[in-house]
Amino acid sequence: MKTLTMDKIVNLCKQYGFVFPGSEIYDGFANTWDFGPVGVELKNNIKKAWWKRFVEEDMNTYGVDAAILMNPKVWEASGHVSSFSDPKMDCKKCKQRFRADNLIEEHSKGEVVAEAMSNEEMEKYVNDNHITCPNCGGFDWTPIKQFKLMFETSRGTVEGEKDAVYLRPETCQGEYVNFLNVQRTMRAKLPFAIAQIGKSFRNEITPGNFLFRTIEFEQMELQKFCHEKDSMNFYNDYKKRALDFVKDLGLSADKLRYHDHDKLAHYAKAACDIQYKFPIGWEELNGIHHRGTWDLSRHAEFSGKKLEYQDPETNEKYIPNVIEYSIGADRLTLAILCEAYEEEKLENDTREVMHFHPALAPYKVAVLPLVKKYHKQKAEELFKLFAKNFMTTYDETGSIGKRYRRQDVIGTPYCITVDDETLNNNTVTIRNRDDMSQITLPVTEAIEFVKDKIEF
Ligand code: GAP
Repeated sequence: MKTLTMDKIVNLCKQYGFVFPGSEIYDGFANTWDFGPVGVELKNNIKKAWWKRFVEEDMNTYGVDAAILMNPKVWEASGHVSSFSDPKMDCKKCKQRFRADNLIEEHSKGEVVAEAMSNEEMEKYVNDNHITCPNCGGFDWTPIKQFKLMFETSRGTVEGEKDAVYLRPETCQGEYVNFLNVQRTMRAKLPFAIAQIGKSFRNEITPGNFLFRTIEFEQMELQKFCHEKDSMNFYNDYKKRALDFVKDLGLSADKLRYHDHDKLAHYAKAACDIQYKFPIGWEELNGIHHRGTWDLSRHAEFSGKKLEYQDPETNEKYIPNVIEYSIGADRLTLAILCEAYEEEKLENDTREVMHFHPALAPYKVAVLPLVKKYHKQKAEELFKLFAKNFMTTYDETGSIGKRYRRQDVIGTPYCITVDDETLNNNTVTIRNRDDMSQITLPVTEAIEFVKDKIEF
């Protein structure tokens, strides 16, 4: 089997309606992407699966949908205003911009942890080791400067009296600021969690690799609030649950690994990424962080509100510890696309097929009239019936073989062919995407058959 490249996935996504370049008719807008009719279903199904697993099936987890624009003090309390920045340096020759810490870490093959270095130390390292521009090979760098990663806009109608506001760079702050609201209204006892899915924005210095790092993306984040004595158990529990989740979605175990962090933020007690082997190599898929009492303490300090919990049995009052589990919906979609793709050699042919878990597949069923002239009317009738039960598509154009191929590449697990048998006996032929086997079932049984397979 040929090695899968990112270009292959990008082209396939553009060709079959998964993802298009953002603002394409204006020659695009770098590192923005629009999900097309097939891609939006895939990403929505991934978000639904996450919500089902971590919110609906968990008695002590509550969902929220907080505002993207928050009081600017939130970002002072979180530390983003003062320190959410990356060290950038520009090549004076080709004008490309790079993250100095990334260049150093790549040059030293991960031996040097640049995150801990000052700008001066990084400049010295770049000069002493003669690190050249990866784009043009030049060695003419601007001094290293901190580059702010939050997008800033302003609020207010009177020029000169505008207040700076920020597009949130992570969704979790909407969970911290609602800790008391959720605890009170849900009469929640610790431990409990708050989860949300929503857009985040980061002015990344080096975005790229398709959906992997973009300037606008969706995060699925969850904060477990708990007593310190239970916190390590929850940390380990979420490490396991996060890995089980992506395996259950279809990512293979040999392409997944834990990456425990050696270097921790001063307030953190533990941190770990789950990495996936993307076509660009092993990279972070999600993070699990033991954040101690940092977030609630800081918001208590900046807001003047007590963000405490009183145990109803022991009367102990304390600021809860937080275990965070955070995963990018777009990054996970990219991993699912890479994992599902196969260029399969058949006897006299090859086919491209996306082996999505049926629960994630954009369409569960494609209804295909065998001969348009005779079977169209019945097929349209069946489309309406199936579409009431699950996402269904309809295709009457081209040979039946070509229509099967088209459904294979967008990952439709079942093709339902409407033929003379359907007209005479109300039975349909169901073709399985993965092994191309076919069975015949009465229409009513076909619906139950598909429903059973698309459970997650
Ligand atoms: N609240 C914690 C937090 O935001 P993070 O490690 O910066 O932590 C969490 O981000 C996850 O969000 C990452 O593991 C990744 O899946 C996704 N993510 C972060 N930055 C991204 C970007 N620029 N583009 C796409 N996904 C991103």
